[in-house]
Amino acid sequence: MTETNVSRAITKAVIPAAGLGTRFLPATKATPKEMLPVVDRPAIQYVVQEAVDAGLTDVLMITGRNKRALEDHFDRVPTLEEQLEDQGKDKLLRSVRDTNDLGEIHYVRQGDPKGLGHAVLRAKVHVGNEPFAVLLGDDLIDEKDDLLSEMVAVQQKTGGSVIALMEVPEDQISAYGCAAISQVEGENFFKVSELVEKPAVEEAPSNYAVIGRYVLAPQVFEVLENTAPGRGGEIQLTDALQTLAKGESEGEGVYGVVFKGRRFDTGDKLSYLKANIILAAEREDLGPDLRAWVKEFAAEL
Ligand code: UTP
Repeated sequence: MTETNVSRAITKAVIPAAGLGTRFLPATKATPKEMLPVVDRPAIQYVVQEAVDAGLTDVLMITGRNKRALEDHFDRVPTLEEQLEDQGKDKLLRSVRDTNDLGEIHYVRQGDPKGLGHAVLRAKVHVGNEPFAVLLGDDLIDEKDDLLSEMVAVQQKTGGSVIALMEVPEDQISAYGCAAISQVEGENFFKVSELVEKPAVEEAPSNYAVIGRYVLAPQVFEVLENTAPGRGGEIQLTDALQTLAKGESEGEGVYGVVFKGRRFDTGDKLSYLKANIILAAEREDLGPDLRAWVKEFAAEL
């Protein structure tokens, strides 16, 4: 544990949204997957809201091609707002304005999408020498869970980097980054000793999968600068974290918080469909009708 990074308040969130979204083609040919709607708002809006709710009001989005749709979504649309106001459509007007008032959002382009590690490195100048959060723009964490705040607290306590982990069935671990962990005595978080990106089932050190939330010490930038392309020819954040996990100097060491709530990978078609149905079924306006229909539909299957 080091003192320098400890207790430096965390206010910045980095949201990588520059991936190609190939698993969701052709929908993602001209639209970023982060803009695909979940019920009635794009996936990215849930993610920005989560960051803001955890007190991270300075958001940096890493975008790529199709940057405009993302920027436009969080910008004002005066003509639309005027029209809704004139028509007295207050609820819709509020929903439009809510997206403009989510906090301070900055944008930087990744250029070539050379991997998540490469995307995070693009945040170096904006973030500077402070710990910061990373939220993957296509990963939805149930808003009822306070995962991010818990991770921020662990970063403040340890001074290292913190990852979110989720137990998955053994045969699914090769779709994720995977962590070997041990309990930190007297604490509800874990020390991570090893990280492997998408291991073969027989080589996986555990069934703890890395999911899309991180709170990182700024030391990660220097490590990323020296991380060679790994799996798939991409600069992998997991590889940089593996280096940090082995280190014992200031800002090194990686810790894991196990998440037990609901999470949806909206870049995956099945998970995306589930997110829409589950979240809509819980809504007051859509839930009753949708639930009744789902029951009817399931009975016919
Ligand atoms: P994914 O691996 O899910 O994104 O990255 P992808 O490469 O777009 O997915 P597929 O496999 O082709 O469908 C997780 C997050 O990291 C971002 C993505 O936008 C997503 O939010 N990312 C990934 C970048 O910003 N840049 C990259 O080079 C890669």
